[in-house]
Amino acid sequence: MKILILSCLTFSAILAQQTSAPGGNLCSYSPVGDESNQKAVPIQDFRSSGLDFIRPNWCITHCADRKSVKVAARFQFANNSTKAATYKVRRTFTRASGMKVHAELISGEPTHRDDNPDNFCMDDSVSAQIDTIVSTYNDLDTMAEALNYFINKPGWAYIIYDMGPPPSIIETDNVKHDMNYCEKFSQKVRFVIVSGCPHIFCLQKMPDGTFALYQVFAGLIKADSH
Ligand SMILES: *[C@@H]1O[C@H](CO)[C@@H](O)[C@H](O)[C@H]1NC(C)=O
Ligand SMILES: *[C@@H]1O[C@H](CO)[C@@H](O)[C@H](O)[C@H]1NC(C)=O
Repeated sequence: MKILILSCLTFSAILAQQTSAPGGNLCSYSPVGDESNQKAVPIQDFRSSGLDFIRPNWCITHCADRKSVKVAARFQFANNSTKAATYKVRRTFTRASGMKVHAELISGEPTHRDDNPDNFCMDDSVSAQIDTIVSTYNDLDTMAEALNYFINKPGWAYIIYDMGPPPSIIETDNVKHDMNYCEKFSQKVRFVIVSGCPHIFCLQKMPDGTFALYQVFAGLIKADSH
């Protein structure tokens, strides 16, 4: 099993430029212009919803075990200003340090949400709905469908990752501070107090042994002609 996972990871690394997606689509993985690419390795599982059929502006490829995923997406931004901040974001989740986020400013003026600088979901209502959905539902299928149903934004596509046990890394290029773009981490609210735990990202397992850490990538996808 381990060998299979490794060979798949190696395979996707070699084919980093172009990988065939289900249906024979090609995903381009060198970010062109404002294209946003996301890599998640390894994760427990993922689901997508909304306007999520595979097409040039929303392309998902993954290993057969679903533990390694790449998404290439082009978003229709609400704010055309070149001053709107663009970041490269790397989230690493390890047993030793919990969740760590590194956000590197690529262009624009640095800005961040007041409540959480690592939340790249600029629409408050979308951000809050994601937290509610992650805390309310227990299976990934229902969470993915709930994102589309409750956020209810025409033209949006969503992908949600169950990050599973550490370690995992999620890296995203061209993360835009924009109302039509959302990249955030969400954790199931826990109703237990763990003594000696300095922050909410301590590795507290749910009673069923899962870690209950999720990541959502979503937004208004550009029309095909662009
Ligand atoms: C942004 O640009 C698009 C296309 O170039 C245009 O349709 C839209 O109205 C612009 N939005 C704003 C807020 O200027
Ligand atoms: C667009 O982004 C710029 C730079 O962050 C900001 O100053 C401006 O207020 C934004 N415009 C809108 C309509 O949100």
